[in-house]
Amino acid sequence: WRAVKLRPRRRPWRRAGNRVVAQAGSYKVAILGAAGGIGQPLSLLVKMSPLVSALHLYDIANVDGVTADLGHCNTPAKVAGFTGKEELAGCLAGVDVVVIPAGVPRKPGMTRDDLFSINAGIVRELVEAVADYAPGALVHVISNPVNSTVPIAAEVLKQKGVYDPRKLFGVTTLDVVRANTFVAEMKGLPLADVDVPVVGGHAAATILPLLSKARPKTSFTDEEVEALTRRIQNAGTEVVEAKAGGGSATLSMAYAAARFLEASLRGLDGDGDVYECSYVQCQAVPELPFFACRVKLGMDGVEEVAAAELRGLTGYEARALEALKPQLKKSIDKGVAYAQQQP
Ligand code: NAI
Repeated sequence: WRAVKLRPRRRPWRRAGNRVVAQAGSYKVAILGAAGGIGQPLSLLVKMSPLVSALHLYDIANVDGVTADLGHCNTPAKVAGFTGKEELAGCLAGVDVVVIPAGVPRKPGMTRDDLFSINAGIVRELVEAVADYAPGALVHVISNPVNSTVPIAAEVLKQKGVYDPRKLFGVTTLDVVRANTFVAEMKGLPLADVDVPVVGGHAAATILPLLSKARPKTSFTDEEVEALTRRIQNAGTEVVEAKAGGGSATLSMAYAAARFLEASLRGLDGDGDVYECSYVQCQAVPELPFFACRVKLGMDGVEEVAAAELRGLTGYEARALEALKPQLKKSIDKGVAYAQQQP
């Protein structure tokens, strides 16, 4: 597997007859929750992508300032701001990818599931609009608890008759980014070379880094495996506590979401070699309808699920996988029940 970098592989030029001209980005991206802690730095990173021609920013507050500010950057993507439910149609019309970081973040002492009561409704409302105005778009859900908000999104899209499981993603890239960073630090490896698959879900013990499958091949003592696994699982809480009431991860999350978006756009663009971990509907673990694992991204979204990566696990990983199943199943069922109760 090749790690995906923020730098796009597309040539910055193309041939038109005898001439060489600049390659223009051609994808439209909408960010819902664009004025928030994640939304703002994510919007900046997306504005810098040569693959993006239009960037639509939506939020219920403060979006005009962010739009004006970002619009002054001399990169090609055209920025437009939208606010209020009645502007969602304009925001979503014709977009290729919708990224959703709208919702409340954790404060110290909170679990991701504590956010369910507020964020479930926000995700539901926004995905309803996606179904109405951008039914063919890829949807990247960042809002927590991802383990439940993605099943909610799936149910909403089903209710609207436009669900395509290949196009719905829970963004778990931050878990991979953290795993890569912590492993590189511990083992003194060059950061750019490290690639650790992280499977399961995106909350506490449901986050399972497969250290035995890390690239480059690296050996860990049992103590190192335990310490790294715990740190990767608790890394979000590390940031929440350091921010002491100021929110959760925003900058590293924006970086991770931009990396996942870039990978998706490269897939749409026909690059045949794009792999990322993501929380998707799949049969990798039969009793869990949604599961994070490495997927191949193509022109219609998920092209292949690398379920084979779940074979040949160490005893530690196999036990952790068994242990996470009930918790993840409960979160999935909670999301599905919520969406089905309130059609
Ligand atoms: P924030 O509070 O700074 O920003 C959230 C933004 O959403 C605000 O600008 C708010 O006005 C907007 N918003 C609220 N309701 C909305 C609606 N109905 N429509 C449109 N926009 C709406 O929060 P932050 O730090 O940006 O976090 C956002 C979400 O991302 C949280 O749920 C957080 O838990 C989650 N998160 C997910 C991670 C992941 O790995 N998937 C990592 C870190 C955070």
